[in-house]
Amino acid sequence: MPGNYQMSIDELVKECAEVQALGIGGVILFGLPESKDEMASGAYADDGIVQRAVRAIRKETPRLLVVTDVCNCEYTSHGHCGKIVDGDVDNDQTLEWLAASAVSHARAGADVVAPSDMMDGRVAAIRKALDAAGFQKIPILSYAAKFASVFYGPFREAAESAPQFGDRRSYQMDPANGREAMREIALDLEEGADMIMVKPALAYLDLIREARVRFDVPIAAYQVSGEFSMIVAAARNGWIDQERAMMETLTAIHRAGADIILTYFAKPAARLL
Ligand code: PBG
Ligand code: ZN
Repeated sequence: MPGNYQMSIDELVKECAEVQALGIGGVILFGLPESKDEMASGAYADDGIVQRAVRAIRKETPRLLVVTDVCNCEYTSHGHCGKIVDGDVDNDQTLEWLAASAVSHARAGADVVAPSDMMDGRVAAIRKALDAAGFQKIPILSYAAKFASVFYGPFREAAESAPQFGDRRSYQMDPANGREAMREIALDLEEGADMIMVKPALAYLDLIREARVRFDVPIAAYQVSGEFSMIVAAARNGWIDQERAMMETLTAIHRAGADIILTYFAKPAARLL
C-alpha cells in the first residue's frame, strides 16, 4: 500500500504528535500482533499491541482523540474476523472476543471503540460489557454498513489479514443491497451505537446520503485503502493530479453527508486545508 507502513509504538507516538499538530480530529488504531493464533488472543490481551499503543499515545499526546478498531482478523491465524467453528465463522461465539477487546481498549484509555467485524449483535454485546466494566461513557462508532468490497485489498496486504480460506461474504454486506444497509444501521442504533459508518465511501455515496437523511446521528465514512491506492497509482503514472483527486473525493464524501471522514489522505489534506 503506497506510502503506508506498519509502525512500532515509538514511531507511532511521533506520528501522533505530528497528527495533533496538523489539527487532525483523531486517529484510529489497527494492531498487528507478534504472532497470530486460532483464538485471536492478541486482540483482547491487556498487553496486546493496540492496548500498549493506546497507553503510549495517552501519555505523549493526551488531547488527541484515540479510536480503536475492534476486530479479530489481524489476530487470527486464518485471517477471518471471527471464531471458526465447523469451518465457518460462528457469529455468537465471536461476540465474546469483541466485547473483551473493546473493554481492554477502554481500560487502556481509548476514547471511542469502533467494531468493524460485522457480526450481528455485537454493538449490544460491546455496550453491555463496557457498561458492566464501568465504561458507560465510552461511545461506540459502529461500522454499521460495511460491504464485502474489493477495495480492502491493499489494507489486508499491509495488515497481513487476508482470509486464508473462503471470503468475508457471510458477514460483510452484498454491494448490491442498499436496503440491507439501512436495516443494519437501524439495528446498530437500536443496540446502542452512538455513531455509524458507511464503508467504503466513494462507491457508496448514495448510502451515506440516505443514512444522513434517515438517521440523526453522526455519520462516518471510510475512504478505504483501495480508494486511496487507486488515486496514488494513477497519479504516479502521470494520469491524474493527486492533490486535486484527493480533495475532490473528500469533498464528495463530505457533500454526501459524512460528518467524519476516515482517510489515508488525512495528513496531506490537513496541510492543504
Ligand atoms: C477489519 C478491517 C478491514 C478494514 C478495516 N477494518 C479489512 C477487512 O474487512 O477485510 C479495511 C480498511 C481499508 O481497506 O482501508 N475487519
Ligand atoms: Zn476483521
